[in-house]
Amino acid sequence: MDDTVAESTTKYYTLEEIRQHNLQTDTWLIIHDKVYDVTSFLGEHPGGEDVMLEQGGSDATESFEDVGHSIDAREMLQQYLIGELHMDDRNKENDKDIFITTSGESSSWTTWLIPALAAAVVGLMYRYYIVEHRSS
Ligand code: HEM
Repeated sequence: MDDTVAESTTKYYTLEEIRQHNLQTDTWLIIHDKVYDVTSFLGEHPGGEDVMLEQGGSDATESFEDVGHSIDAREMLQQYLIGELHMDDRNKENDKDIFITTSGESSSWTTWLIPALAAAVVGLMYRYYIVEHRSS
């Protein structure tokens, strides 16, 4: 089975494929939806190879950002770039955001409906009051 999709010059890898590369002799990391082969960098990493191996084959974005890596460190990333995370595997994260946003919007729908109904009821009561008042 071919898990990769070639699109112009960028190579896309699925999470399933990236997960296989979690060995000391073969370490891939995902940082901000980009895939890096850091095998040759393990021994050179100023933060040590253990922290990188722990994240091997998975998304290291949070750990990478938590450390507050320097601009130099971010530039070094380019040397190890091999491709990007497949669109299908990115959307799983994005769907959660969309769901949260939508559910937030549906609650604001009730916040204007209730006052609108209350205003309509008051309006009708007022009309009836005027009609009653006139006829008596
Ligand atoms: C290819 C990916 C990475 C590169 C190129 C990289 C590069 C660097 C560089 C250049 C430094 C020195 C300080 C600096 O310039 O910010 C550093 C420090 C450090 N890195 Fe990374 N890093 C990578 C991934 C990671 C990951 C995934 C983790 C955590 C899981 C990590 C944890 C650390 C820690 C803890 C330090 C601090 C070491 C200290 O201050 O003693 N790094 N890294």
